[in-house]
Amino acid sequence: MAQFKCIHCGQIAPASDNYVCTCGGLYEVNHDFGDISLELFDEKLRDIGSVWGSGVWRYKELIHPELDSRHIVSRPEGNTNLYKRQRVSEYAGLDDIYMKHEGENPSGSFKDRGMTVGISVAVQSGAKKVACASTGNTSASMAAYAAQAGLEGLVFVPEGMIAYGKLAQALAYGSKVIQVKGNFDDAMGLIRNGAKQLGFYILNSINPWRIEGQKSIVFEMLQQRRWESPDWIVVPAGNLGNTSAFGKALRELKQLGLIEKIPRIAAIQAEGANPFYKLWHSNEKKLEPMKPDTIASAIKIGNPVSWEKALKSIRETDGVVEQVSDNEILDAKAIIDASGVGCEPASAASLAGTRKLRDMGIIASDDQVVCILTGNLLKDPSTTVNYHIEGVSARYSNKPVVVESDLDKIEAVLSQGNIPALGQAVKHIGN
Ligand code: F0G
Repeated sequence: MAQFKCIHCGQIAPASDNYVCTCGGLYEVNHDFGDISLELFDEKLRDIGSVWGSGVWRYKELIHPELDSRHIVSRPEGNTNLYKRQRVSEYAGLDDIYMKHEGENPSGSFKDRGMTVGISVAVQSGAKKVACASTGNTSASMAAYAAQAGLEGLVFVPEGMIAYGKLAQALAYGSKVIQVKGNFDDAMGLIRNGAKQLGFYILNSINPWRIEGQKSIVFEMLQQRRWESPDWIVVPAGNLGNTSAFGKALRELKQLGLIEKIPRIAAIQAEGANPFYKLWHSNEKKLEPMKPDTIASAIKIGNPVSWEKALKSIRETDGVVEQVSDNEILDAKAIIDASGVGCEPASAASLAGTRKLRDMGIIASDDQVVCILTGNLLKDPSTTVNYHIEGVSARYSNKPVVVESDLDKIEAVLSQGNIPALGQAVKHIGN
């Protein structure tokens, strides 16, 4: 039977809706796994049309074995593609780099993987009202799943700091949207201190079941690779739920004897929202919160709730934490976009970080690297359009051209070519 275990003091508690231990540490789910073989999951791939068709619930035995399947609320989610594009590999200075596109989930981000589990647990426990704080994607996902399950949704978002695509989703799916005058960390504080009092079940990643669902990104990626581990998994890092989930997924697979090699996790933060980077590169024992500032609004977080779990993930996987500037994020995004794959700004921190780690000699040119693209290109159209139209230091800008309705003039414009800098982007790293 699964129980909760405090990440900080080790205390065991029943797997109820109580997320935080009396010592203040977060709980994680402590499973009592039976015998599990990889064939089980390969077999389920054939079960098209059933709940195992979900890229989350296919791995139910590793996520929530005891959940009554009748309570599962699924779109279905997952089954996201692994892309390989030459221009992206060359930009990173690698032979091969794969992008796992979590923006292909039903609401356009990886959040659906944790949300399907969190909402299903909420339904099983009889909750009627669910709430979260969000930089946008969690709220979009929760609003969608709450609507599907017939639950009342409440979301707290930082006023003026969330991308329009995400705000549009939360409003359209019918959750109550509170725009908090403050940043994400303020909104998160309100949820932690007030949601229970208001009678809401919390669906942020302090809820350990969210983390369980997000483990499926790693399970699915490994299954797509015939269960062969890459050398690296590179992930954008904000509130640190994914970094935590990936480490736990790999730990459990290893303990079950299902994988031999543990990939190294590289968590990438934006320079202006880098408290975890600072912690990793210091001798401090506790994360020091900061005031965040980055164009990648999804990871504009100064006090990430899951830092202690994430630290364990980085330590256990011999991982690293790196930071990248907003310009590096936007240029990497332009490269991913121009490869035809596309992503939202925060997602591109993974490619920018890979390139930097390659430059530093930490990632080798023949290492197998999987970058996680966390959100869809359409989530934040303003940032993309601004980059191409106004971006002062935008290296790969694709400026729209205003031309009179005259074919000769259009021909003259066409003769100038398109995004010339893209040709120079490749082979940046000379070895
Ligand atoms: N990328 C995207 C697109 C995100 O939406 C988030 C987090 C992250 C990366 C960071 O992931 O928190 O697991 O380290 N978005 C949250 C939200 C905070 O509210 O939507 P993390």
